[in-house]
Amino acid sequence: MEKPGGGGVNQARIRQGPSRGYVLVITGAGISAESGIPTFRGDDGYWTIGSVNYRPEELGTLRKFQEVPWDIWRWYLHRRQVCEKAMPNPAHHRLVEWESRWGERFHLVTQNVDGLHRQAGQRNLFESHGNLQMMRCSQHCLPRTWPIPSSAKVGCGDLELKTLLACPNCGAAARPHLLWFDESYNEEHYRWSSAQNIARKAGLVVTIGTSGVATLPSRLSSLAKSCGAVLVDINPEQNPLSRQAQASGGAHLACGAGEGLERLEKILQG
Ligand code: APR
Repeated sequence: MEKPGGGGVNQARIRQGPSRGYVLVITGAGISAESGIPTFRGDDGYWTIGSVNYRPEELGTLRKFQEVPWDIWRWYLHRRQVCEKAMPNPAHHRLVEWESRWGERFHLVTQNVDGLHRQAGQRNLFESHGNLQMMRCSQHCLPRTWPIPSSAKVGCGDLELKTLLACPNCGAAARPHLLWFDESYNEEHYRWSSAQNIARKAGLVVTIGTSGVATLPSRLSSLAKSCGAVLVDINPEQNPLSRQAQASGGAHLACGAGEGLERLEKILQG
């Protein structure tokens, strides 16, 4: 963790990052916590509350979807309804400003499926775990995704959901456009190869609000670090990502997303 007053932060090294390569930001549930969306593993997290009755590996798997598609759909429709009430917060807006500043040299990879980065106006964005607003054919007959109709709600019956959530091409059930626990990252849906290529060319990598339990943030950060990037982690808690950031000569800013980005902005501006 950095010392009070920023004494432990290597400001000069962080400031040089953007001139050495891409600026890559990787976000997790913590950035949306400030918009009121629960994280996954916090005290009020999706995988914590209710986990006596529902285990994540059951709800978030292709296997379970194939068994009870409409129950699984209802879980995601519930989460979509939670996200629809949320608005982007100052941290999301700050990242849109960074995109305007650095243009094509700025990249954002998010694990969040809430769509808040897009809603804030982010354009150069990889949604590496998908998007709760979108669905695709469960039988892969079409490569594209399309929006989930707003009339599909948790309270709909199975038959209604079956009609609303059918593939327009082949009539099979559509599935949420999300990466499940028993599936792998890929380029086609989640831009995984592209994200790794960006990490290799990064000069500064900023991870925000992620526990690092999913493989993506640690893999991309490690890859970038091995290619010479400096890492900064913004998270009120310490975890392997914050330790790796310190080991890269960067910093762990031990605070929330909004405050952390404000502090990083000051460091970058010198
Ligand atoms: N600002 C920044 N970080 C915060 C804040 C905040 N205001 N509040 C909490 N955090 C941090 C927590 O300390 C924690 O490290 O956000 C992190 C959230 O961790 P997780 O709940 O594990 O979420 P995430 O890392 O995004 O999970 C990754 O796992 O099952 C999945 O698919 C799901 O995309 C998700 C993936």
